[in-house]
Amino acid sequence: MELKITCIPGDGIGPEIIAEARKVLCAVAEKYGHTISYTDVLMGGASIDVHGVPLTEEAVAAARNADAVLMGSIGGDAATSPWYKLPPNLRPEAGLLSIRKALNLFANLRPAVLYDELTGACPLKEEISKAGFDMLIMRELTGGLYFGERRTTEENGVKTAVDTLVYQEHEIRRIAVKGFEIAMKRRKKVTSVDKANVLDSSRLWRQVVEDVAKAYPEVTLEHMLVDNCAMQLVRDPAQFDVILTENMFGDILSDEASMVTGSIGMLASASLNDTKFGLYEPSHGSAPDIAGKDIANPIATVLSAAMMLRYSFDLDEAADAIENAVKQVLKEGYRTADIFSDGCTLVGCRQMGDLLAERV
Ligand code: IPM
Ligand code: MG
Repeated sequence: MELKITCIPGDGIGPEIIAEARKVLCAVAEKYGHTISYTDVLMGGASIDVHGVPLTEEAVAAARNADAVLMGSIGGDAATSPWYKLPPNLRPEAGLLSIRKALNLFANLRPAVLYDELTGACPLKEEISKAGFDMLIMRELTGGLYFGERRTTEENGVKTAVDTLVYQEHEIRRIAVKGFEIAMKRRKKVTSVDKANVLDSSRLWRQVVEDVAKAYPEVTLEHMLVDNCAMQLVRDPAQFDVILTENMFGDILSDEASMVTGSIGMLASASLNDTKFGLYEPSHGSAPDIAGKDIANPIATVLSAAMMLRYSFDLDEAADAIENAVKQVLKEGYRTADIFSDGCTLVGCRQMGDLLAERV
């Protein structure tokens, strides 16, 4: 099979972790007889430096032209980087939001799994972590507060800022369908998270999710308020299978969920539209403080590449090979600094990539 991939290395540790993911993809392609062609494009700060904007139309066209996009990370240190002196719509993050919208990537899948080998890194009490957990956050990605109208005005010396949270029924329905579909392939439980005790958008969310649920009688649906969910994630994470939620709640809860795994450097993500096309990126950010030091953990990006093989190319066997390689390397005791514990072997980003490529 010929895999046509557009690559966005991005900023900070992005280029380093992408290089390792490509190393692993190369090994897997060789093993299973696939060929991969890459087109590299700039986004975020790297694009600002060259083109003056965080995302060009050419970059979007290159992404559209591929079967999938593999991305590193974008953004810099907001306190020191000149990118953050630009107006908000020209900063690195605006590039990411624009490409999600341009490619209609409304479904963001963020798995948060506690790896057996890494239970020591889990910040929860042992009596909680010993149950283990394996959840998938299904975050709506192209609507809500991040895409509603916004403005800041000043009248008579009083500054006012407004952001609008808008959801249309069809936007809720299509993400809910994705949530239930994936729950059918997992443990058949959906926790829909909202703030229906306050927000109209959440009340509509709840209504539409209940309607969609009728087509999935095997799936258990429960509703949970977002503040309670934030608490439950640290109190009893094992209760969750699929968490289905809107854009901002998903942004916040997915960071929390990844932190309770103790290994944000391990968590992959996929952003999908209604076709096989997807954008795959680690759940973590660009970590500018450790960029270029060969200490970043490439595993989240490698696992994102595995998600790409699974969802965009239906290459389950190749995806399994990558996921097993990750488990194997962890079992052998190799760790990057972020997941290191006593008795393990500390390795850098490149060596971790080499080890994974050898084991696929
Ligand atoms: C994420 C990030 C982005 C988001 C930022 C960088 C715009 O936090 O992917 O979670 O909020 O979606
Ligand atoms: Mg986020």
